Amino acid sequence: MRIGILGTGTLAAALGEGWSRAGHDVVIGGRSQVKAERLAERLGPEVLAVAPREAVVGRDAVLLAVSWDGVEDMLGLVGASEGSLAGTPLIDPTNAVAHGVGVLLTEHGEPMAKRIAGLARGAHVVKAFHLFPADRWTSSPGAGQAGVTVAMCGDDSAALRVVGELVRDVGGTPAILGGLDRVRQLEEAAGFVIGLAFAGFDPSSAVPRVPSSPVSD
Ligand SMILES: NC(=O)c1ccc[n+]([C@@H]2O[C@H](COP(=O)([O-])OP(=O)(O)OC[C@H]3O[C@@H](n4cnc5c(N)ncnc54)[C@H](OP(=O)(O)O)[C@@H]3O)[C@@H](O)[C@H]2O)c1
Repeated sequence: MRIGILGTGTLAAALGEGWSRAGHDVVIGGRSQVKAERLAERLGPEVLAVAPREAVVGRDAVLLAVSWDGVEDMLGLVGASEGSLAGTPLIDPTNAVAHGVGVLLTEHGEPMAKRIAGLARGAHVVKAFHLFPADRWTSSPGAGQAGVTVAMCGDDSAALRVVGELVRDVGGTPAILGGLDRVRQLEEAAGFVIGLAFAGFDPSSAVPRVPSSPVSD
């Protein structure tokens, strides 16, 4: 796939490495061209640094790997309101939560994915990759360690399929929770995990083990 990554930080680096290793064609666009070039160089000769606008043109998927409060600026830089991302699966991994506390910081609790859908005309927004630390995508699970499930929300089934493939390519199992009308639950889950972790509890010990029924995909 041709993948555009917006952002040059920790998550951009981890998923850029994972997807490039899986054989995808990855380009990086950041507000700082110098940082984009530095990251592309670190990821290897197949990864290119491009201007943000170029990072979204003709891509099979775009990852919006920027801080939640930088989303509007970045979408402005790429011309999202003019439809530059129309029809493109746009992955939203953002966590608009207070560090160490986990409270959602968006105005009136509006989910980030919905805000992004409102800013990026015609984009097929998929919430995914927000719950696990970035280094999960560059390290394989240890012996006896279970793989991870990446819960996702989105309204477009083709976009969910594309993002599901990208989840598998970095060792995860995709699980669709529902459409963007359920995305608030997914975003609040990050606050739940962060809140418990910072209070000294293992978040996975705070959810019951419920038998799952096998599904075919
Ligand atoms: N790191 C993780 O483990 C992890 C896991 C799950 C989800 N996430 C989410 O993924 C997103 C990226 O996280 P990260 O850890 O990669 O963050 P990071 O290392 O701090 O990088 C943030 C990126 O956002 C860019 N940015 C910030 N404000 C901007 C603005 N106004 N306009 C354009 N670009 C702007 C930064 O550009 P500059 O460098 O130029 O400032 C940088 O490229 C966040 O929303 C985070 O909540 C992260």
